[in-house]
Amino acid sequence: MQQANFVGWKSRWTFILAATGSAVGLGNIWKFPYITGEYGGGAFVLVYLACILLVGIPVMMAEISIGRFGRTDPIHSTVRGAQDAKTTTAWSLIGFMGVLAGLMILMFYSVVAGWALDYVWQSATGAYSNLQATAIEENFEALASDNTRQLAWHTLFIILTGSVVAVGVIRGIGTVVDVLMPLLFVLLLVLLGYSWANGDFEAGLNFMFRFDFSKLTAEAVLTALGHAFFTLSLGMGAIMAYGAYMPENSSVAKTTLVIALLDTVIALVAGMAIFPLVFANGLEAGQGAGLMFATLPVAFSSMPGGVIFSTIFFLLVSIAALSSSISLIEPGVAWLERQGVQRVWSALVFSLIGWAGGAACIYLPGVFDSLDFATTNIMLPLGGLLIAIFVGWIMRRNTVRKQLRDTGELMFNSWYVVTRFIAPAGVIAVFLYQLGLLQKLGWI
Ligand code: PFF
Repeated sequence: MQQANFVGWKSRWTFILAATGSAVGLGNIWKFPYITGEYGGGAFVLVYLACILLVGIPVMMAEISIGRFGRTDPIHSTVRGAQDAKTTTAWSLIGFMGVLAGLMILMFYSVVAGWALDYVWQSATGAYSNLQATAIEENFEALASDNTRQLAWHTLFIILTGSVVAVGVIRGIGTVVDVLMPLLFVLLLVLLGYSWANGDFEAGLNFMFRFDFSKLTAEAVLTALGHAFFTLSLGMGAIMAYGAYMPENSSVAKTTLVIALLDTVIALVAGMAIFPLVFANGLEAGQGAGLMFATLPVAFSSMPGGVIFSTIFFLLVSIAALSSSISLIEPGVAWLERQGVQRVWSALVFSLIGWAGGAACIYLPGVFDSLDFATTNIMLPLGGLLIAIFVGWIMRRNTVRKQLRDTGELMFNSWYVVTRFIAPAGVIAVFLYQLGLLQKLGWI
């Protein structure tokens, strides 16, 4: 085992914050509200929460366990797990697929992060203050149709991501996340308070929490499952890569619960801040990817101190996006580093590919949505499925048990059953449902 060059996180909390930094990002504040709007609210939210509980949490425990056992990048960690079980190292395919998925996500993620950066600028210069809701909506449309402007911000975001990764994620990230993530949460709570006081809060809550199952399509279920992976950064090795740095004496189960809880609460708070504004201002809940940018500025433009508040808010959203985007390429960069490629060079190569893909998202119609669909709805659930199978069926039970040694027998056994049977069956069932096969078989 190559433990010599292993540097642990400063404390258990630093690991939790860094993993939370990866999990909490645009997925929570931008994506969750907008897909909830597109898929009609309540029932979608319920399925998403079920996916977090039954698939997301068990898979996160599995990923951290592989990472902490292997103590290296995801590809080599899976190889070690397979060697330990005396089986084929072809399981490292999980890691390779993850590296590819991370790059593909970065391509569209960075474009949206670029929008957030643009809104830092717009907020600071008061570009949308005192505008009406419809004009604020048009203001976003103007950005979405200005390719050069999008490319410029996307480029800046890729440079930021590449630079942090080049320096080394593990070194810098802890302190950034320590202070800024809690601050983002506080600002979201302030926005929630504003929505409660000024928006149509009841309509917002009704939309999010009234379960109308007639709106639930196969695609909505697949999207909810995919988003559970996306929002928790699962299925592609990001959490596995960070897990390699987790202290030996901290609890995988408790840590996972903290991260999943923080992530879920932040998404729900973001939704609860956004939807009351949608309904109070006659905006469209299902308007798509622009939702956050067309609604929150409505609040900012009319609140006292809105200019400063909104500038800080979008800055924090951009930083949350950054602490997520670095984890998208970290698995690949860490792997190349172990192959002897200098970190700076591999960070550069990954950034360039991500940049080119992002440019394609901006200039070529359909690329953005295809990348989003392929990664979120196919590659991440597939990666998660393979991870669950790997930990549940391939790795030695004893090895896995050691990673979860502080967990009581009953808890461990329950998790093991869920990881072996329920999580994989859930993912497979959703795939089959999407393909229409469950209906053809007459199962539903
Ligand atoms: N979890 C991040 C978010 O919700 O914004 C996105 C993400 C980061 C997905 C890292 C996957 C990943 F590996």
